[in-house]
Amino acid sequence: MVKICCIGAGYVGGPTMAVIAYKCPNIEVVVVDISVPRISAWNSDRLPIYEPGLDDVVKHCRGKNLFFSTDVEKHVFEADIVFVSVNTPTKTSGLGAGKAADLTYWESAARMIADVSKSDKIVVEKSTVPVKTAEAIEKILTHNSKGINYQILSNPEFLAEGTAIQDLFNPDRVLIGGRETPEGYKSVKALKDVYSHWVSEDRILTTNLWSAELSKLAANAFLAQRISSVNAMSALCEATGADVSQVAYAVGTDSRIGPKFLNASVGFGGSCFQKDILNLVYICECNGLPEVAEYWKQVIKINDYQKSRFVNRMVSSMFNTIANKKVSILGFAFKKDTGDTRETPAIDVCQGLLGDKAQLSIYDPQVMEDQIQRDLSMNKFDWDHPLHLQPMSPTTKKKVHCVWDTYEATKDAHAVCILTEWDEFKKLDFQRIYDNMQKPAYVFDGRNVVDANKLREIGFIVYSIGKPLDAWLNDIPVVA
Ligand code: NAD
Ligand code: UGA
Repeated sequence: MVKICCIGAGYVGGPTMAVIAYKCPNIEVVVVDISVPRISAWNSDRLPIYEPGLDDVVKHCRGKNLFFSTDVEKHVFEADIVFVSVNTPTKTSGLGAGKAADLTYWESAARMIADVSKSDKIVVEKSTVPVKTAEAIEKILTHNSKGINYQILSNPEFLAEGTAIQDLFNPDRVLIGGRETPEGYKSVKALKDVYSHWVSEDRILTTNLWSAELSKLAANAFLAQRISSVNAMSALCEATGADVSQVAYAVGTDSRIGPKFLNASVGFGGSCFQKDILNLVYICECNGLPEVAEYWKQVIKINDYQKSRFVNRMVSSMFNTIANKKVSILGFAFKKDTGDTRETPAIDVCQGLLGDKAQLSIYDPQVMEDQIQRDLSMNKFDWDHPLHLQPMSPTTKKKVHCVWDTYEATKDAHAVCILTEWDEFKKLDFQRIYDNMQKPAYVFDGRNVVDANKLREIGFIVYSIGKPLDAWLNDIPVVA
């Protein structure tokens, strides 16, 4: 029986390995992590992450050929294939701070593999890493090899949260990069054999190591760029009376462009887009390509602009003051169908509103209060360094209330602000919400989920991203 061990039981390691175990009953898969609470949760009825379909997959194979353990060394020692799926955050200090990837967690995993191994291993980069990381890992392993043969493969993950199981069951492609040597080809084939259990041959792409590593950064940069492109258009739509949904539809029907990923929003979030583009920018700078670096940096700048434009629109619409006004925040996760808040645009919007002294009442169906309080009092980039979690700030805590019901969150509020496109927000009783709010009652829709015209009939003043403005908002200049 082939034995797989995956280091890192996070959003990628957990679901990816669960699907491998599900699809390959002849393979034993053990997911290991240094975090005791995370592993306990994977072994419990309440998994550490919310992901549609995940519970069923885990229940089906846990205890049979899928295991979760904190005994990292034992399972690495026993494995034939070791996936490394640890976090690769943005560096917060030192050389490249604020841009470069912090490979501390990666390197410590590699050193541990070198320490405990007594047999040949295929080591698979699952984490998103800078180009040429495989070379560094290879050096660590071969300099400590004690005669063991290590083959390094790059197998980046393209799943999106909220649809992870669907994406893993039916991937657009699986990408495997390896050394162009006989041993390299052999190990690529071994990993290909794992995926071939359920992915057709034509969807398994093989490349050299550096192409695979760079393709992952490139794919995220292209995806984020599409959102920044449509968001840049949304500002122009608001200024001209065009409707961004109509523009996106007209543009997306060109088969060369395609319709997906063109939803204007308050900005993209998630643990990876910003981190990976910053990393790409840093790699370009290090390779003497400042123009290319500048080009990709603009994707992040437009994203930041979109978030601050949204806050400014809110404040200026509400007579330029929101001090002590209750603002109801609907949705805090970075997208629907996940409880993940990493780099969610809700953090920037809420911090902007708190900066103007608003009182926030927040409701999200999947995010817990302590997570929200922590997110709102943490420094940029600190969230992905689990050992450096910051204490909650008492001032933030007083201004932020988290509730478990939309109607409670919106009661007596001056404004409703939608920041995640949860399906349940499309079905709300807005007449009831309006009746219980202060007047004038505003809705700021950062995800274009509500029917603005229906809400206007009820009496709301409505702002939707990139849509023709209410007469009320039209007359008010917004400072960008
Ligand atoms: P995560 O923070 O959820 O999980 C990483 C886990 O690794 C943590 O539980 C941490 O405790 C553990 N870990 C760190 N160092 C360790 C060590 N030395 N030994 C054992 N465990 C260790 O991160 P994630 O979201 O799963 O992302 C992992 C990687 O995958 C990142 O490089 C990310 O860029 C990439 N990625 C993420 C997604 C996504 O949707 N989240 C998608 C594609 C790729
Ligand atoms: C993204 C990529 O889609 C995955 O392929 C990749 O594997 C992953 O990053 C990663 O490397 O971590 P994810 O961040 O989970 O996946 O979710 P997305 O669906 O890409 O959404 C990212 C953000 O963009 C969300 O805040 C979402 O609301 C926003 N978005 C998405 C828009 O604002 N408009 C759109 O049209 C699409």
